[in-house]
Amino acid sequence: MAKTTLDQNTTPLYAALQEHIDKRVIPFDVPGHKQGAGNGELLKLFPKSVLEADVNSMKPLDFLCNPVSVIKKAEDLMAEAYFADESFFIVNGTTQAVQAMIMSAVSDGDKIILPRNVHKSAINALILCGGTPHYMYPYFEKKFGMSSGVSLENVKKAIEEAPDAKAILLINPTYYGIVSELEAIIKYAHHMGLLVLVDEAHGAHFPFHEELPPSANKLGADISAVSIHKTGGSLTQSSALLLNTDRISRDYVKTVLNLTQSTSASYLLMASLDLTRKFLITEGRGKLTEVLNLVRDARNRINEIDGLIAFSASDFNDKGCFGFDETKLGVNVTGIGFTGIHVYDLLRDEYNIQVEMGESHNILAIFSVGDTPRRVNQLVSALNAIATRYRSEPLDMTFKSFNSTEALISPRKAFYSPKKRFLINESIDMISGEFVMIYPPGIPILAPGERITEEIVNYIELLKSEKGAISGLEDSEANYINCIEEQ
Ligand SMILES: Cc1ncc(COP(=O)(O)O)c(C=O)c1O
Repeated sequence: MAKTTLDQNTTPLYAALQEHIDKRVIPFDVPGHKQGAGNGELLKLFPKSVLEADVNSMKPLDFLCNPVSVIKKAEDLMAEAYFADESFFIVNGTTQAVQAMIMSAVSDGDKIILPRNVHKSAINALILCGGTPHYMYPYFEKKFGMSSGVSLENVKKAIEEAPDAKAILLINPTYYGIVSELEAIIKYAHHMGLLVLVDEAHGAHFPFHEELPPSANKLGADISAVSIHKTGGSLTQSSALLLNTDRISRDYVKTVLNLTQSTSASYLLMASLDLTRKFLITEGRGKLTEVLNLVRDARNRINEIDGLIAFSASDFNDKGCFGFDETKLGVNVTGIGFTGIHVYDLLRDEYNIQVEMGESHNILAIFSVGDTPRRVNQLVSALNAIATRYRSEPLDMTFKSFNSTEALISPRKAFYSPKKRFLINESIDMISGEFVMIYPPGIPILAPGERITEEIVNYIELLKSEKGAISGLEDSEANYINCIEEQ
């Protein structure tokens, strides 16, 4: 366990919740299922102990909208574990953390520098607060069909182009584990007076093993959003916002969070954050050593299979990749003649294996504290079997994807502009009024206000033909797109 000032073996929120349950307090409040007694259907899925813990705020259990006792204590422990001054528990997913982070730093009309491969929550935050994006376009690795990280040079150029920007947002790491030149960028951005915000949705495990990339707060980021539920091990949707600067006050961030935060925060989610923080700081290193051993072995074995590339930092030839999270097992599958979407479906339908995502070129398997050697063997064997049984000519996929989008109108203005519906394949050269993406990763292929190009339309058609789960459009069949009526 790392050296700490607070007693990281304690779990103040969980302890208070357990005490409440043990007291068998008579519930004349919500939730109306009253510990499961009023809705037997729930007991089919949730053990009674779970339903007993599904309570609402009350004096002994604090209130997430204004934490002053057990939630605040649990948040302080979380802040210390993640090298931050302050933390906020989040129950509306990292989406809410990213949005509150941006809305705390940027107001109507302010510019923010961000890489174009951000999650949609960042662009949605700009629709909400009226900030304007100034995009950096990270190096696009054509072989793997993906953006890599951001270099100090990218940042210097962006600040030169947008000298009035108030903040910069970085991703640490990308979905595929790629880390930007973070330390140098944070130093430079601070030197230039910018606030540094970091979307660390995929880096919840970073502080707990020295062979993983450093977490953003440790390197001096001002504020970060961390999906404890993704690779940390807490319950889905539970997340944390970490504040590490004197330039934005805790009170202001709290007020911003309360614009969108539920007034009925789930104690299941919050207790899971408290327990997971203790688990990570006391047992994380040992567990993560096992995870690293498993994923290193899997990567080596997959790389022996003809046509598959389980990529790592060295595959990016130093272009935009300044560190790598080995626990993200991205596998390029175009060498066996398939898209990632196809292999994702085959793994699920024929081998009962659910990987995190399948895109045009790659699949991504996430390794985390819950993996076992047996399951890893099943994944490697399934990939071997797919490569042997179905192999055909390698796919030639040379499109540039969304790396080259031209943003013409701010997301907020585009969102509220009058629009007309067009067939997607008849919308080339128009300005999109909507998002288009597949989730995961939730990175917009198009965002509101961007020019629709032939390349983008071809990419959307490819995703549709491969039955990728397209979202963002009003049309759930993804045949039509709302375009902005140009004056
Ligand atoms: C980089 C990134 N940021 C933010 C989010 C949003 O997280 P959540 O799904 O917890 O709302 C995601 C989700 O996939 C993500 O990939």
